[in-house]
Amino acid sequence: MIFFGGNVGSNFSAVVAQLRAANAKSPIGLPLLLMTDQEGGEIRRLPGEPTMSAKAIGASSNPSSTATSAGTGAGNNLLSYGLNVNLAPILGVYRAAGDFLDYYERSFGMTSSIVTTCTTAFIKAQQATGAAATTKHFPGLGAATHAQNTDSVPVTITLSKSTLQTVDEVPYTSAISTGVKLVMPSWAVYSAVDSLPSGLSTYWLQTELRGRLGFTGVTISDAIEAGALSAYGTYSQRAILAATAGIDLVLASAQDATQGSTIVSAIASALTSGQLNATAANAAVTRITALRKRLA
Ligand SMILES: *[C@@H]1O[C@H](CO)[C@@H](O)[C@H](O)[C@H]1NC(C)=O
Ligand SMILES: *[C@@H]1O[C@H](CO)[C@@H](O)[C@H](O)[C@H]1NC(C)=O
Repeated sequence: MIFFGGNVGSNFSAVVAQLRAANAKSPIGLPLLLMTDQEGGEIRRLPGEPTMSAKAIGASSNPSSTATSAGTGAGNNLLSYGLNVNLAPILGVYRAAGDFLDYYERSFGMTSSIVTTCTTAFIKAQQATGAAATTKHFPGLGAATHAQNTDSVPVTITLSKSTLQTVDEVPYTSAISTGVKLVMPSWAVYSAVDSLPSGLSTYWLQTELRGRLGFTGVTISDAIEAGALSAYGTYSQRAILAATAGIDLVLASAQDATQGSTIVSAIASALTSGQLNATAANAAVTRITALRKRLA
């Protein structure tokens, strides 16, 4: 379950408690994944920590210790409301002032080194509180310009494979060895390596993320209703493409009560018909179950 600012009223803790109580009656016996975007600075769905933006953390006198405090603050803040997954931090290495990530100060900096330092410290500290972290948007939106917003439009990033691997993906190596629980791919197309958006791409999700980088945790898509996917059919068709490519959790975040259940029915039918690979789907469920077992 994902929560937005509009869900966070004065009784938000009671709302989360009500969902947990309903889930406790499920025979599955595992906690729900209760998530929000608590990045820092302007991108916070909950009041409170982390109040500093990623950019301010990266520019501080001791970025590693500032990022550690931000990660601890984010984790404790989520847990205080009963949430257990943060859809943060962002691992993008921005290229120019005012770029998509820089515009709201969502990138820790302009080099792989500063982004790696800050995101690794943030992830380690946040996950030590018990709240899982999500690194996004793999392999990176650092080169996206202000107008290249995948929520609204298709986005193509033309960086070479070598630049992607030696600049943008560098923080992922460290995040994965630190044990980050989830990775969210971007909806951008990286035209030097594949014509499909990363989150629909077997190359990005399997060859690169699980193969070369060795990630064994849970993959979660970005919003399935994103404008970047307008050429890929209905929400259900997009979800099946994502699951086929290697997405474990599909984020249905249109704030429409029927969107998620429609997608679940479509995925169930695709499994029954054999359109989706049952072995691969079971492996996804095993990864999600392992994550839920680790969370409160
Ligand atoms: C929380 O507040 C909203 C808006 O007033 C209300 O609709 C909802 O029933 C409340 N939920 C709980 C669990 O208190
Ligand atoms: C189904 O997925 C499994 C696990 O990823 C893979 O080994 C197998 O080759 C796939 N089968 C087909 C028919 O693609």
